[in-house]
Formats: sequence, C-alpha cells, structure tokens
Amino acid sequence: MNWDKLRGKFIVLDGPDGCGKSTQIRLLKDVLKNSGVPVLVVRDPGGTMIGERIRQIILDDHHTEMSIRCEALLFMASRAQLYHQCIGPALKDNMCVICDRWVSSTYAYQAVAGRLGADYVLNLADTALERTWPDLTFIIDLPSDIGLERLGATPDRMEQKPAQFHQQVSTAFVELARRRHDFRIIDGSGTIQEVHEKIREEIATYVDV
Ligand code: TMP
Repeated sequence: MNWDKLRGKFIVLDGPDGCGKSTQIRLLKDVLKNSGVPVLVVRDPGGTMIGERIRQIILDDHHTEMSIRCEALLFMASRAQLYHQCIGPALKDNMCVICDRWVSSTYAYQAVAGRLGADYVLNLADTALERTWPDLTFIIDLPSDIGLERLGATPDRMEQKPAQFHQQVSTAFVELARRRHDFRIIDGSGTIQEVHEKIREEIATYVDV
C-alpha cells in the first residue's frame, strides 16, 4: 500500500466511549511511522496546554451544573486551539495528522444525545473552526453498553451520563457516517488486530482510488 499518500492528510478516529479508538490510533501511528510517513497524533478535547485545561473543566464531575451550550462551546474552543496550534501547522508540513475525536463527537454527544440540534453544532463548527471536516473519519461502531463496560472504575462527567444518552451517541455516530462520503464505519466488536486490519483495508481503498 502507498502510505505516502497519507502525507498532508487529516484523519480522525471517533466513536462511543470505550470503542477502542485510542488503541487503534496507536497501531495506525506505528504503521505510518514504520512506513516513513511523518505523523502527528493529537486528542480532542486537549492536545495543547489550553485545550488540556479546557478538557479538565469539561470532564470534572463536580461541574454538574454545566449547560449543554457551555459544553459544546468548550469542546469547540479546545478544538479551535488544537487546529491553530498543532493540526494546521502539521498539515502544512505535509505530516499525516491522526486525531482522537473531532466535530463528529460534538454532533453525536451534544447535537443528538444532548438535544442541541445538528444546525446549532454544525453552524458553530463552521464559524469557530478553520476546518470542520477531516479528509477521512473512521467511526468505530460498538454498542454503548459494551463500550462503557470497558472503561475504568472512575467515570468522568461525560461517562456518568445515563445509559440512554450513550445509546443515542452510538446511533448518532453511525447515522452521521452513513450520510457522509468521507466517513467509514468500522465494526469495533472484533479483536484489536481484526479492527486494525479493517482500518488498514479502508485506508488501502482510500489511497488507491
Ligand atoms: P475521550 O475520553 O475519548 O478523550 O473523550 C472525552 C469525553 O468527551 C468522551 O466522553 C466524549 C466526550 N466528547 C463530547 O461529548 N463532545 C465532543 O465534542 C468531544 C470531542 C468529546
């Protein structure tokens, strides 16, 4: 496979909590590095000093009074800084950027499960960000109850939301992915290696087109 075609590309892995995207990002990063493709891995929210501080505010389980609008704006603020400080410059340097979550998460968590509405979130993204959509987004699809079981003993403020909220998140990711040509749905229920192979297959199709 011609991994070199991923230079200058912005790739996102997203999905419900516990879907395994962070593990898959590590595996993908190793493949790219071993193939000589310069790669930057970042996480959203976070990835910059400002973004990591915003992340702490969002995930702090003492912040039970946080409104859904405040939540969406904080996610978007962290992301704006991440693009400005890390993603944009790396893409200009022709690196491949792999990002853990992006606007697709604000769509699933705040627009759909949080009932803010798609228009609110997508308009916000269009005005707040230099770039709304990556080149390629993988949604790792996994039933939310299986994902939540995989998480640690101390759930953060988002993970503490009700089971029904998380079910709506899972469904929203898949529905969004089905509507967009630049998204790929990956079945997250296999072994780590099986999921990795599926991602590689999809990338092979993407770069060879
Ligand atoms: P993470 O643990 O995968 O890094 O994500 C942090 C949590 O924040 C996770 O529960 C998903 C949630 N989240 C949103 O609700 N909206 C967003 O826009 C993003 C990026 C994450």
